Amino acid sequence: MDELKYVLLSAIREAGRIIHSNFNGIFRIDHKEGINNLVTEVDQLAEARIIEIIRASFPEHSIIGEESGEYLHESSEYQWVIDPIDGTVNFAHGIPLCCVSIGLLHKGSVTMGAVFNPMMNELFFAEKGKGATLNGQPISVSQKTDFRTAFLVTGFPYKWPENTLEHPVKVFERMVLQGLPIRRLGSAAIDLCWVACGRFDGFWEYNLSAWDVAAGYLIVLEAGGTITDFDGRIGNVFDKQTLATNGHIHHDILSVIRKIEE
Ligand code: IPD
Ligand code: CA
Ligand code: CA
Repeated sequence: MDELKYVLLSAIREAGRIIHSNFNGIFRIDHKEGINNLVTEVDQLAEARIIEIIRASFPEHSIIGEESGEYLHESSEYQWVIDPIDGTVNFAHGIPLCCVSIGLLHKGSVTMGAVFNPMMNELFFAEKGKGATLNGQPISVSQKTDFRTAFLVTGFPYKWPENTLEHPVKVFERMVLQGLPIRRLGSAAIDLCWVACGRFDGFWEYNLSAWDVAAGYLIVLEAGGTITDFDGRIGNVFDKQTLATNGHIHHDILSVIRKIEE
């Protein structure tokens, strides 16, 4: 197996073990910016272990970790983007919808990514040009073409953005008024992977960070899905607007987000 893939999978499995063994246990919980933006000592433990594993093989690579910040090596073409627990609020409340997310960027574009929910034992993986898998089996986005029956998922920021063109609640209201079933799971990485494997037909969220989306971004694309910003532009994992769909309903969902009367 390619060394990058081996290290990625070893790191994510190891972090998954840490999370699984502490699930429903006793751990310290701190608050980050905003009273509901939590971080537990398990997040920190898992991230430290992931970084240790990556560094042991690739000491010259750049790393961005949600909890420990950026270690940038100007000369490196590779950048690991880590969310040790995506869905920390769920984890802290004993809800098994949380995961580890690790994306690997090469020259700024995501080339490999994995998302692992150890409680459900679901490992999503994708490598650029090689498709996406769930526990080793190929996955693909749903085939639904009728937006009126779409099953959607979204999320909301803990800190409300000030200079968005439109308040995210307004967009949510318009979507709900379409009579569509919409879920809020609390883990953007899982949301993306569940679009990739066809459980959901689409996901949108404003103000996510690169560590939330880096792995899921590639997993959706490799599963045949479409990702753009809210203007329909193809961007990258650092964008602040994320719309991921099966492709077929992309235009319709964009129309609702952008309030376009057809
Ligand atoms: C959060 C989750 C959530 C999303 C938040 C993220 P965290 O990540 O992905 O679904 O709505 O915006 O911050 O804090 O659990 O790693
Ligand atoms: Ca996150
Ligand atoms: Ca996190």
